Amino acid sequence: MIIMRLENIGKTYAAAGRRIIALRNVCMSVEAGECIAITGGSGSGKSTLMNIMGCLDVQSCGEYYLCEENIKCKNDREKSLIRSKTIGFVFQSFNLLPSLTALENVELALSYQGVGRRQRKERAREALYVVGMGDREGHRPYQLSGGQQQRVAIARAIAQDPSVILADEPTGNLDPATGGEIVSILSTLNRKGKTVVLITHDMRIAYKADRMISIKNGEMA
Ligand SMILES: Nc1ncnc2c1ncn2[C@@H]1O[C@H](COP(=O)(O)OP(=O)(O)O)[C@@H](O)[C@H]1O
Ligand SMILES: [Mg+2]
Repeated sequence: MIIMRLENIGKTYAAAGRRIIALRNVCMSVEAGECIAITGGSGSGKSTLMNIMGCLDVQSCGEYYLCEENIKCKNDREKSLIRSKTIGFVFQSFNLLPSLTALENVELALSYQGVGRRQRKERAREALYVVGMGDREGHRPYQLSGGQQQRVAIARAIAQDPSVILADEPTGNLDPATGGEIVSILSTLNRKGKTVVLITHDMRIAYKADRMISIKNGEMA
C-alpha cells in the first residue's frame, strides 16, 4: 500500500522581494512499512519536502496524497487531524519544552488530541520505555544529554501510534555514536511496522535505509 504519493511537487517561496524555487517536479511514493532516506546538501530542499509530506506546509504546485487523501483539498482543521493521526515528527533540535519533564513533554502531544488524563500517562510512560527512557520520566530537558532528549522526542512522536515517522536530521546535533543509537531506535520502530522517512546529509546513515532519494537544488537527482 502506498502511504505517501507526491506528483510533480513544486514549492516557491517569496522572501525579501525574491522568488526562491525550493522544490521542482518532485515525484515519489512511499510504501507503508518502508524506511527511506532523503539526502542532499544544505539548502537542497529537504526540510521543505518534509514539511509538505507532514502537512505542515502546502506545495505551490503538484499533488500530494497522504493515505490516499489529496491534502490540497483539506482545510486546516482536517489537515491537523490527518497529521496528528498519521505522522510523528522528530527534529534536529529535539524541540522539547524546557519547563516540562520528559513525561509531560510526551503527554502534551497526547493532550492536544484529547486523550484522557490516565490513558495519556500510561501511553506516555510506555513510549518512554520503548526508547529506553523509562527511568528518566521526571527529568527536564536540561537534565538530559542530547541523545536522551532526542529519545524523549521520539517517544513524543510515537506516543499517539502514528503510521509514519518523519525525522528531519535527527542526528544533526549528536556525535556519531549517539546518532547511531538514535538511528537504531528508528530502525527498530521500522521493523515493528512504522514507515520511516529519514532526512539526513550523512551518507553512512542514509545507506541503512531500504531506499535512498537524493535531492539537489530542489530536484530529485
Ligand atoms: N520560509 C522560507 N522562506 C524563504 N525561503 C526559504 C524558506 N524556507 C526555506 N527556504 C529556502 O528554500 C531552499 C531549501 O531550503 P530547505 O528546504 O530548508 O533545505 P534543506 O533542509 O535541504 O537545508 C533554500 O534556498 C532556503 O533558503
Ligand atoms: Mg533542513
